Amino acid sequence: MSRLKLAVMISGRGSNLQALIDACADPAYPAEIILVLSNRPDAQGLARAATAGIPTRVIDHKEFADRTSFDREMTKAMETAETEMVCLAGFMRLLSDEFVDHWRDRMINIHPSLLPAFKGLDVQERVLARGARFAGCTVHYVRKEMDTGPIIVQAVVPVLPGDTPDVLAARVLEREHDIYPLAVRLIAEGRVAIDENDRAVIDGAVAQQGCLVNPVG
Ligand code: GAR
Repeated sequence: MSRLKLAVMISGRGSNLQALIDACADPAYPAEIILVLSNRPDAQGLARAATAGIPTRVIDHKEFADRTSFDREMTKAMETAETEMVCLAGFMRLLSDEFVDHWRDRMINIHPSLLPAFKGLDVQERVLARGARFAGCTVHYVRKEMDTGPIIVQAVVPVLPGDTPDVLAARVLEREHDIYPLAVRLIAEGRVAIDENDRAVIDGAVAQQGCLVNPVG
């Protein structure tokens, strides 16, 4: 079986990277991580990659005059490693249009909300401020506008009384660690197509049935 070659781009903690590393440790999983790229030399995720024996590369954005030259260097590194798909996993820099176009339909991201709601930063603060009853996370293909693009998998969690942003983020993060490896597997198995309306269509996956209500009383 040939496994889909992933490059994972990080900026920090790397817990989603770890979820992908753990999934790829199963020889039956149809993808492998061939490179971990960080724009920050102090990203904790770099140690996770090193422990797993995965090559790492730091490309510090501060050393580049502009976004385009930084992005080109990342593409060069990933192409040299023969990357087939890019996984953004807590990569906290905006990407140039050129970069997004170059990797179109070959780059996915995880975001800690039920997109298209709550794009951007400080998501759980805003979820709580709006009194939303559910939160969640999304894996999606990347398009030029931030936090847009065909949605592949989402997971939903309830917002509970007394939640703080950190508590809610931790509840969401647990589910992120399920859906990122799931989305990568669906793609690697060739089961994700993008239709003419730029929506992802999943072949042979079972849709979740039923209805969630929060609160109940
Ligand atoms: C995750 O919650 C991820 O969804 C979020 O950053 C965190 C990274 O955690 N990404 C974004 O907000 C991107 N817009 P990690 O480094 O432990 O995977």
